[in-house]
Amino acid sequence: MNGTAARLAVVISGRGRNLRALHAAVADGRIPATIVAVISNRADAEGLVFAREAGLPCVVVPHRDYPDRASFDGALADTLDGVKPDIVALAGFMRILTEGFVRAFEGRLLNIHPSLLPRHKGLHTHEAALRDGDVEHGATVHFVTPQLDGGPRVIQGKFTIGAHDDAARLAERVMMDVEQRIYPQAVAWMARGELRFDQGVAAFRGRPLAEPLSLDDLEPGFR
Ligand code: GRF
Repeated sequence: MNGTAARLAVVISGRGRNLRALHAAVADGRIPATIVAVISNRADAEGLVFAREAGLPCVVVPHRDYPDRASFDGALADTLDGVKPDIVALAGFMRILTEGFVRAFEGRLLNIHPSLLPRHKGLHTHEAALRDGDVEHGATVHFVTPQLDGGPRVIQGKFTIGAHDDAARLAERVMMDVEQRIYPQAVAWMARGELRFDQGVAAFRGRPLAEPLSLDDLEPGFR
């Protein structure tokens, strides 16, 4: 972004495998950014163990300390404002955000969702793909808007569901084969200023994306 390293905040709730992938890509220079904060709503998030060992600045904002969604989101917004992020990557963050929060960070806020959006919004996406007899499954990076899992899609990685894929195996394939590739790539594009949120639309290299990018669009370093 403008030739200087973008300021990246990563917001987690759990294991932090996407956080690891983002950190690896920052560390080896594929993402021209500095991770200015790892924020978790859970003090026991496994991802925090990794983040601390990696020397990343960590903040816990425990949602249980706040009486309602709006006050938690206010605390989260204050924490983020304190680190002045150019990009906020939700990475396994398991809270629904209020419209006020989303509007405050709109255009800087990315999420990764474990399905081929718009299919299977919400939770239990792998079970849903099997239940519905889907032929393909995968993950999607999208800009966050007030519509849950409904913001403009940036990149989607897909694969064919195999006869022996159960929900656990699908979750593993989605994480290892898709999420860990497409999220660092999307954040890299954003950090370079090649990906923007423009009046409600995802724009890539100056053009609105009618369809999300795909695994074929990954640069060699992200494959
Ligand atoms: C990922 O599948 C992500 O798409 C979903 O939650 C999972 C988080 O995993 N929102 P991790 O915390 O990055 O390991």
